[in-house]
Amino acid sequence: MKKIVSLTVNGIAHEVAVEPRRTLLELLREDLGLTGTKKGCGIGDCGACTVLLDGVATFSCLTLAIQADGGTVETAEGLAETGKLNRLQQAFVDHGAIQCGFCTPGMLMTATELLRSTPQPDEHDIRMAISGNLCRCTGYQKIVEAIQAAAKESS
Ligand code: FES
Ligand code: FES
Repeated sequence: MKKIVSLTVNGIAHEVAVEPRRTLLELLREDLGLTGTKKGCGIGDCGACTVLLDGVATFSCLTLAIQADGGTVETAEGLAETGKLNRLQQAFVDHGAIQCGFCTPGMLMTATELLRSTPQPDEHDIRMAISGNLCRCTGYQKIVEAIQAAAKESS
C-alpha cells in the first residue's frame, strides 16, 4: 500500500505517494524528475547518489523515501544561485574537477556539507570528507583543489 511522503526538495514542498520500499533516489529521479542525482552502484559503495537530507550528506540509494518524510532535501539542482553556478560549482569547472561528470553531483553535495561545517578545510579534511565518493576519472587531486579554491574564495 502506498504512503504519502511530504518533503521539501530544494525549497519546494512536495507530497508523493510511494511504495514503502521505494528509495529516496527513485523518488527524486523518477517521481520528481530531478535526474541530477545519479545512480551508480545502488548499494552504498560509490556516493554518486549523495544528497543532503536535513543538512547531512546521505546516500539516497540506501534511504527509503518514507525515511525522508517531513524532511528537507538538497540536490545538485538546488545549488545554483539566481541561475548562476555557485562558487563551488564554478570552482569545479575552473579546476578541471569534472571529466565524465557522473560523480560530480554527489561530490558537490558532500563538499557543500563539508564547507558548511568546516569553512576552511585542509587537504586531509577534504580527502576524508570525499572518501565515500568515488571518481573514476580525475584522480581526485583536481577535486581537492576545487574545494580548496571555493573555501579560499569565501574566506
Ligand atoms: S548509487 Fe548510492 S552509493 Fe552508489
Ligand atoms: S568525473 Fe567521471 S567519475 Fe568523476
